[in-house]
Amino acid sequence: MAQQFDFAMIGLGVMGRNLLLNMADHGFAVVGFDKDATKTNALEGGATPGTIVKGVNTLEEMVSLLSKPRKIIMLVPAGKPVDDVLQSLQPLLEKDDVIIDGGNSHYTDTARRIESEKSFGFHFMGMGISGGEEGARRGPSIMPGGDAGAYKNIQPVLEAIAAKDGTEPCVAYMGKGAAGHYVKMVHNGIEYAIMQILGEVYDILKRGKGFTNPQLHEIFDGWNKGDLKSYLIEITAAIFLQKDEDSDADLVDKILDVAGSKGTGKWTSQSAMDLGTAIPVIDAAVSMRSISGLKKDRVKAAGLYTLPSHEIATDVETVKQQMHDALFSAIVICYAQGLAMLQKASVELDMQIPLQDAVKVWRQGCIIRSAMLGIFYNVCNANPGISNILLDEAIAAMINEKVKGLRSIVGAATEAGIPSMALSNALNYFDAFTSEKLPLNLTQAQRDFFGAHTYQRIDKEGIFHSHWNAAE
Ligand code: 6PG
Repeated sequence: MAQQFDFAMIGLGVMGRNLLLNMADHGFAVVGFDKDATKTNALEGGATPGTIVKGVNTLEEMVSLLSKPRKIIMLVPAGKPVDDVLQSLQPLLEKDDVIIDGGNSHYTDTARRIESEKSFGFHFMGMGISGGEEGARRGPSIMPGGDAGAYKNIQPVLEAIAAKDGTEPCVAYMGKGAAGHYVKMVHNGIEYAIMQILGEVYDILKRGKGFTNPQLHEIFDGWNKGDLKSYLIEITAAIFLQKDEDSDADLVDKILDVAGSKGTGKWTSQSAMDLGTAIPVIDAAVSMRSISGLKKDRVKAAGLYTLPSHEIATDVETVKQQMHDALFSAIVICYAQGLAMLQKASVELDMQIPLQDAVKVWRQGCIIRSAMLGIFYNVCNANPGISNILLDEAIAAMINEKVKGLRSIVGAATEAGIPSMALSNALNYFDAFTSEKLPLNLTQAQRDFFGAHTYQRIDKEGIFHSHWNAAE
């Protein structure tokens, strides 16, 4: 009998190829489709000896090789290419087959495609995958959502290929509809925010205190050995040691200070605005990428104004300690914002996202993996409905003292004229969130003054409107 294949991949770019080879390494017979023969050859050439991996150049052949119900992942660029693949598969698939979009699709596109499932005639799921090339090959973090029954069909293979925290696989069902892509989008928003925070820490230490790249390596490497242990800090430490191939310089100093993006951070901010949930650290990260693009204007503006010296007077050892605490508390606050957003989306968008499982699958394999997630997992497990992890007593005890470091660093950076938008937004969010009383009573008075928008009172129930004294 001809070889039957367990799983197929459409799109053999770096992620698709590596994910498929990962499946093969776990004993699954896999077939990969790409129109480009060099990619199918690269797939077969990269297979571990003894594994069953085949590359094909037509969808018809791919479908004919699969055992039923067929299980197919596509990793193609988000947008129209996904719709095109779904259309091409329509005449080839059957009712119980499952097709999974594993790319970074916008969750509203995923929701629309799920709505069209009946016309497709097969199951469609959206699934976030994080971990880059290495993660795809050795164990990514996987965030599937949608049809719970269809998920059961693919669960064994996903559990086999996912990263492991101890023995626990970093994959779980993320909820209804487009929940998989929604959780991945928020993951990316947090990724943007932590990267921006790390950029600011680098800038403050370099411009404010004159640390060299080898010294920055030492500091970040030291942090990565303690309670800040995380993938993004680990790679940042490594970056400071990398030499340029064309000169004696460090590579980081040769890179233009303009950051690109594919949009997932912006989508997170847009969705947060729609939900009415505040994620200002993520917003700051998105804004800073935009400001980075204004290179010409920045150069001109730098010559127009009298700016502070950028030097920070505080002694080196104190700054290092304050910076550790600032970094720790800002990162906790940024996760808190992302998780609060997921909690709100879960209800408002009716996705039923199990918050503890989102945290669980982020513990290993993904870009935002960090030792802190183990702590957040315990918090969310004990209280799955928690609206914000800053309300947890253990979290409060953990950052109560450290926030002082954040306050000192934001103050020093502000004095020195070094931008710290993400760090200060983290601090301002914290200060607002812990303010029993905010000045929004004045906002309500103003709204009622000019627009009769009414207000509520602190001393009696009901909705009120006043005849305000006319402005002089
Ligand atoms: C991941 C990454 C991955 C990708 C980002 C980059 O989890 O593996 O998040 O999805 O590297 O989308 O996003 P930008 O290009 O927008 O920075």
